[in-house]
Amino acid sequence: MLQEQVLEMLEEKRGELVTGGEIARRLGVSRTAVWKVVGALREGGHDIESVPNSGYRLLGGSDGLSEYAVRRHLQTEALGQRLEVLPTVDSTNLYLKGMDLSSLPEGYAVVADRQTGGRGRMGRTFHSPAGAGMYLSVLLKPQIALTETPFLTICAAVAVCETLRDVYGADAGIKWVNDVYCGGRKICGILTEAQISAEMQAVEYAVVGIGINTGAVAPEVSEIATSLSAVTGGPVLRGRLTAEVLSRLERVYFDFTRAGKKQEILARYTEMLFMLDQPVEVQQGGRVFDAVARGVDENGALLVETADGRTQALNAGEVRIKPLR
Ligand code: BTN
Repeated sequence: MLQEQVLEMLEEKRGELVTGGEIARRLGVSRTAVWKVVGALREGGHDIESVPNSGYRLLGGSDGLSEYAVRRHLQTEALGQRLEVLPTVDSTNLYLKGMDLSSLPEGYAVVADRQTGGRGRMGRTFHSPAGAGMYLSVLLKPQIALTETPFLTICAAVAVCETLRDVYGADAGIKWVNDVYCGGRKICGILTEAQISAEMQAVEYAVVGIGINTGAVAPEVSEIATSLSAVTGGPVLRGRLTAEVLSRLERVYFDFTRAGKKQEILARYTEMLFMLDQPVEVQQGGRVFDAVARGVDENGALLVETADGRTQALNAGEVRIKPLR
């Protein structure tokens, strides 16, 4: 596709000028065609500067989201190999769940520039403004027991946290069960939605949704939320971030489903949990009590020690670190 080819040429020399003539010659099209394609790329969110009589330049911080932007960094066997990039959607999870999942391969992924109804856990919304986040949903078809379903969220949290640490040098940690934090503020939320086969009592499909804030954080949430560009102090290219998360998620997921390395993944998850051995407040089914977080069990339930010294496994409910009084 011509758009992709032009983008590829500009991407090869990101930050430098490429003449319209050179692009036209290499692709065997007219300069007018190049000019039109550049216009379409701009409309698609790519920041391309046009310098009269000199050519076009893809700006260093240009963060247009396209299939090409993801694919050029993608190193996976399955995850993201079939990929849909949408300019805007209500929710990538809803969109994917609305497809005929039986006909789609494992790893089918949907990414959007913006969500108008981004969904979080417990009926919450996930604020998803245009150009300011990575909003990704991936289809998984694991052959696992029903009780292991929460482990998919664990895999995703490990994958995101390790990506933020290893690729972006961020001081990231996991807040049980599905949030990733940097510097005491939330940077990522994960929502796993599974379809269960009643007669088989097994997971038929799982849609793992991952939202990472990358751009400016709205002032009204800046106390509780942060973003990858705020943490790194520079622009974040979402195409690359998406590919890195998919690649890392695939490794962790295959470690779980193919190599049976549950214990190793749990150890990594536990190491990244930032509330360990700290006093927490548990809000569960209308009850609120104090406890100390001690670890996670083999299915990812949070183990908390209550005041009477007993250990309780939490599968649902909310946990927050108790503020110092
Ligand atoms: C949470 O914070 O409770 C979870 C948020 C999950 C957000 C992601 S963004 C991509 C995918 N689509 C959604 O509607 N939600 C998830």
